Amino acid sequence: MTTGDGWEAEQLEEKLAKRVRGGFGAFWVAGGRQEPPPVPPIALTGGIPDPDTLPIEELIETSNTVLRREGPNCLRYGGHQGDPGLREWLAQHLNRQEGLSVTADNFTITNGISGGLINVSLTFLDEGDIALVEAPSFPGGAGAMQSSMSEVVGVATDEDGLIPEALEETIERLEGEGRRVKLLYTIDNFHNPTGATLTLDRRRAVVEICQRHGVLIVEDDAYGDIRIEGERLPSLYALAGGRGAVFLGTFSKTMATGLRVGWVLGDEPVIDALLRTRFDLGVSPWLQRTIAEFTSTGLWERHVAKVIDVYRSKRDVMLAALDERCSRYAHWSRPEGGFFLWLTLADAVDPAALRDAARQLGVAYVNGGAFYMDGQGKDRVRLAYSFVREQEIPEAIQRLGRALEQAAQGVPA
Ligand SMILES: Cc1ncc(COP(=O)(O)O)c(C=O)c1O
Repeated sequence: MTTGDGWEAEQLEEKLAKRVRGGFGAFWVAGGRQEPPPVPPIALTGGIPDPDTLPIEELIETSNTVLRREGPNCLRYGGHQGDPGLREWLAQHLNRQEGLSVTADNFTITNGISGGLINVSLTFLDEGDIALVEAPSFPGGAGAMQSSMSEVVGVATDEDGLIPEALEETIERLEGEGRRVKLLYTIDNFHNPTGATLTLDRRRAVVEICQRHGVLIVEDDAYGDIRIEGERLPSLYALAGGRGAVFLGTFSKTMATGLRVGWVLGDEPVIDALLRTRFDLGVSPWLQRTIAEFTSTGLWERHVAKVIDVYRSKRDVMLAALDERCSRYAHWSRPEGGFFLWLTLADAVDPAALRDAARQLGVAYVNGGAFYMDGQGKDRVRLAYSFVREQEIPEAIQRLGRALEQAAQGVPA
């Protein structure tokens, strides 16, 4: 029934805020409804933790302990900055890990990194400002920046992460056009989607360039704690001495995405500014207290050590299966941590034919195009090894290999 009052789906567009009409958020609804696939697919899509590792028993115990011990105190509004106990643990943890000397006042607790990114965007970006992001990047990051009506511009990357020369060139070009480049959003450890880790030399160069141009570094460390091999590199935040940088972390990838608890670390004046654009009355105090109990009793460290072994084994099984089955049709990265492998398809592989064949054969992946804003990346594929059961990986890669074979023209099988 059409009532003519403007709330029908077709007319709703007119009533929406400019930021929504501008295409913001399209990523999350893209694709629409599809016919169910002919074969139930093995999903190599989600960047989410292994379901068998979720610390359910420990969370039952810690949340009970907190409720019994703290009762009404953790069931009231807790304030925007977040639980002091959890912030204190974060300060000690990052001081140890990064050689910093920050305090609980340098943190604000957010609704995951995603909430932190919206908070940063609302605090620092005006309509028309430029937010730089890596090309490719996590679409949620670019989306958060666009929510302030800023313009998002991609900077080239390679297997060592963001390319400093490309960063400098992009900033200078935009400044030359009279644009205001406000911030750089970067995922420097085990990047989503590429798995790349920014090298130490590049970290130093990125910090130097951003500081010289007064560009805020927004460092997303969603995966940094899931280091499978090698040494942790200093954060951009640490290299910048905390000046002109914020560092965002989360319990989503080490514990569970459903917790929705993350944080922003920054200089105190920056944290104070971030609190001025928070109107959500804070993250659940009960959950924050539960995580504070989890971390302060050593459960988090033990849990992370355990899950790293799980991801190492899955990564290696997937790499071995790819070597055996797919090397004729693609090449790929070998990440030192995180959840993802990034494949570059051989020229002979038609990405659209691959999508159709994979659907028929029952394996799901994310096409690289989802991580670029300008139509690049169709010849790339992101595979997540984190969520799929390890026993299913060889079969998933067999299916992918068959799909690649079908989608490749002129490559001998
Ligand atoms: C790079 C990156 N940052 C942030 C997030 C979201 O984190 P959170 O669950 O803490 O909001 C993701 C989720 O996929 C991600 O890949």
